[in-house]
Amino acid sequence: MKFNIAIDGPSAAGKSTIADILAERLGYNHLDTGAMYRAVAYQSLKKDISTDDEEAIVRMIEDMDLEMTIDGRVILEKEDISDKIRTDEISMRASDVSKLAGCRKALVAMQQRICAEGGYILDGRDIGTVVLKDAPVKIYMVASAEARAQRRVLQNKEKGLDADYDKILADIQARDYQDMHREVSPLTKAEDAVEVDTSDMSIVEVVDWALNLIKEKTGE
Ligand code: DC
Repeated sequence: MKFNIAIDGPSAAGKSTIADILAERLGYNHLDTGAMYRAVAYQSLKKDISTDDEEAIVRMIEDMDLEMTIDGRVILEKEDISDKIRTDEISMRASDVSKLAGCRKALVAMQQRICAEGGYILDGRDIGTVVLKDAPVKIYMVASAEARAQRRVLQNKEKGLDADYDKILADIQARDYQDMHREVSPLTKAEDAVEVDTSDMSIVEVVDWALNLIKEKTGE
């Protein structure tokens, strides 16, 4: 039987990249839960709903036709918004909506439904502590804010986006603070999670480390 794997950690620590590669190696699916908070942020902006208005945001989520495809696309009301949700504005707004208990409740329920049959790698902030409390493998991936900012600069340059190091570092630090200090399910390491600091590791090294851990914990 296939199980589920939890990966948590702060923004830009490499969770999604590693989850994608692990999913391919293991024949699992990757669910990027951050993209779901981003989709909520995108829709609230489009509909001009304040991120302080929890009731309206929850009603909006109930009416939302959101599809997370197996190949990692985010489809909102038949529109592919995968790239549109990657802007700085949506990043901060996603962190804002993720503070709302009602928003978290709705998205956690969706995430648990999607991976009910097993065979999923979920990455986010509350996967090991809330969404997949019983997952046999929990990874807590961290990296220094400076290393994460440096990686984002390179990624943004490749994509032709704004790549100002100081601004990116400040954004990362602001989002870290907000995600770790919110009242509901703040980002924190689950007791049974294994921490890895990827600051000085290559992608290949992190993948090898994770595959060893998965083997050790599950025999796969
Ligand atoms: O992983 P990301 O940067 O795409 O996530 C965007 C925001 O969503 C992040 O700032 C915090 C929030 N988030 C969350 O609260 N819980 C999750 N499981 C995933 C993301």
